[in-house]
Amino acid sequence: MTAAKCISTASAVLTRRFPPGLSRMGFAAVFFLAGGLGTPAFAQSPPAIAGDAVRGAKLYEARCEACHSIDHSRIGPSHRGVVGRASAAVKDFTYTPALKKLKVTWTPANLDRWLASPPKMAKGTSMGINVPVAKDRTDIIAYLATQTDPTAAAAKPAAPATPTKK
Ligand code: HEC
Repeated sequence: MTAAKCISTASAVLTRRFPPGLSRMGFAAVFFLAGGLGTPAFAQSPPAIAGDAVRGAKLYEARCEACHSIDHSRIGPSHRGVVGRASAAVKDFTYTPALKKLKVTWTPANLDRWLASPPKMAKGTSMGINVPVAKDRTDIIAYLATQTDPTAAAAKPAAPATPTKK
């Protein structure tokens, strides 16, 4: 199919899905007008994190908030900015020696390992629950990734640039 045909088909699909006037439509229209090289804008997911953050938020509330909150340390440490953060880095939380000596960065992959089994990763940790279903872990991690810490971002080297369409 030609590029022009492809674009008009995609536009037609979008028009059907999103009534004109929705900002999403506007965004897509700008993208298509701009030349439409590469992946269509609407098919891009947030950088590097798979999973359904909306579902993850509900799971977080149900499975994590007994002990954690995003902004306050409780039974467990606060979670703002945890994706990409060093382990055992929350200042107002007293970690177990097991977690202190873990010394990992909480990448999505490490969080997945952690949630699958905290004691497997840090024997002696006081976090006594796990999330056995992989999809649940992925969605929770996707949610956590949306809870960024603006102060940490300022201190870190700039994140890799998200491709900008000109
Ligand atoms: C029963 C209480 C409890 C529940 C429920 C719980 N946690 Fe924890 N969590 C803890 C405790 C306590 C720690 C600190 C462990 C230590 O110091 O060994 C911790 C630590 C963590 C850490 C390490 C943070 C850091 O700063 O290094 C992450 C990540 C984490 N929890 C994620 C979660 C997620 C996501 C959920 C929900 C699926 C969850 N926890 C549910 C008690 C809990």
